[in-house]
Amino acid sequence: HREGIPRDRAPDSTLALLREGYAFIPGRCRAYGSDLFATRLMLTRAICMTGAEAAARFYEPDRFTRRHALPRASFALIQDQGSVMVLDGEAHRWRKAMFLSLMAPAALERLAEATARHWRARARAWAAQERVVLLDEAHVPLTAAVCEWAGLPLTAAEAEARAREFLAMIDGTGSVGPRNWRGHRLRARTERWAREAIAHVREGRREAPPGSAVHVIAHHRDPEGRPLDLTVAGVELINVLRPTVANARYLVFAAHALHLHPETRETLRAGDEADLTHFVHEVRRFYPFIPFIGGRVLAPFEFQGHRFARNDWVLMDLYGTNRDPRLWEAPERFRPERFRAWSGDPNTLIPQGGGAHETGHRCPGEWITLAQMKAVVPLLVREMAYAVPDQDLRIDLGRIPAQPRDRFVIAPARP
Ligand code: HEM
Repeated sequence: HREGIPRDRAPDSTLALLREGYAFIPGRCRAYGSDLFATRLMLTRAICMTGAEAAARFYEPDRFTRRHALPRASFALIQDQGSVMVLDGEAHRWRKAMFLSLMAPAALERLAEATARHWRARARAWAAQERVVLLDEAHVPLTAAVCEWAGLPLTAAEAEARAREFLAMIDGTGSVGPRNWRGHRLRARTERWAREAIAHVREGRREAPPGSAVHVIAHHRDPEGRPLDLTVAGVELINVLRPTVANARYLVFAAHALHLHPETRETLRAGDEADLTHFVHEVRRFYPFIPFIGGRVLAPFEFQGHRFARNDWVLMDLYGTNRDPRLWEAPERFRPERFRAWSGDPNTLIPQGGGAHETGHRCPGEWITLAQMKAVVPLLVREMAYAVPDQDLRIDLGRIPAQPRDRFVIAPARP
């Protein structure tokens, strides 16, 4: 018998979770007046929790494992078996360092440059079209940019094909059924391509610049000096490429925000770096992306009177923490200026996880996300001329991953 923690009355809340999506944890925490509650999902007991204090516990090094913590059908598309995400302890830190080694300032600069260049080139093609579905289209220049940066330059036709595969994988993330199966099918194709690229780099049949992602992953050694298994290496390469392409969603959300809050566009036009940073943070705070992360307790602890035992299944609310009224004034309002006074506490703005990058599971790609958004938002503001025709701009919180209903259509201005 566990006291003090509210629990869902229904015997199983899986359908409610699928229906409520991003709102499931924060809505119930608010209704229960508690940072945590117990529920049953897929017939398994789970503890859901929200807020910065919960995040601080969830992101303590070695407190939780991601193994057997994410429903396979739905979240397997974010990260795969064998990837850094399902490692723990020393093995995790070692592999994580490989990812973090790709994030040196000069490397991020190169990625930002490639992103802006491919975006500009694609935007010239858009300018000749009547309507452009930005969410679909944005994946193409991001794919071209990240593959070039990773040491795997693509032809224009290849960029289109790979972009479609990545989009299907990302789109399949939170769903069951056809959208998910399609993601899995295309994923198999992309994995074959990634494994082949790694194999060719290892055999010297393909040149890749030292320091590029494909080179680093192909030649990575574990603490015992062994190279990564080819399948794992392919998965890790995709774990760099796919989420970088997924930044397309944040760029579309940025365009959505610029449209609904034209005063932010005015501010950004002046070109102040701090304003740009605040805008990008606010997009990541405000818009739904990854709703929550699952973990299983490795080291028991107590939090808010509740005893967490080894192997307990816990879902940490990312979306709701980004909108927690105890952390953010008027959280439902889009207000980049709020970041002028932000404490920088790593467990408050957690769209890509909390805690420290090096010792925990916080997303190593956070710098990529920031660099790419900072490269493209100025192009949306200062270079691209487009109208936003009548459409459904609503974002359905029951759909994971979320997006504007009409995928954000723009009408480029005729030159
Ligand atoms: C992990 C979000 C972009 C690579 C994560 C996690 C989240 C996340 C929530 C899990 C944190 C946890 O387990 O507690 C996002 C979002 C992105 C993004 C919203 C925006 C598109 C990227 C990029 C990369 C990347 C650009 C490229 C390197 C990874 C990897 C992990 C991860 C490798 C596993 C890290 C670990 O387990 O230590 N991301 N991410 N992500 N992300 Fe991202």
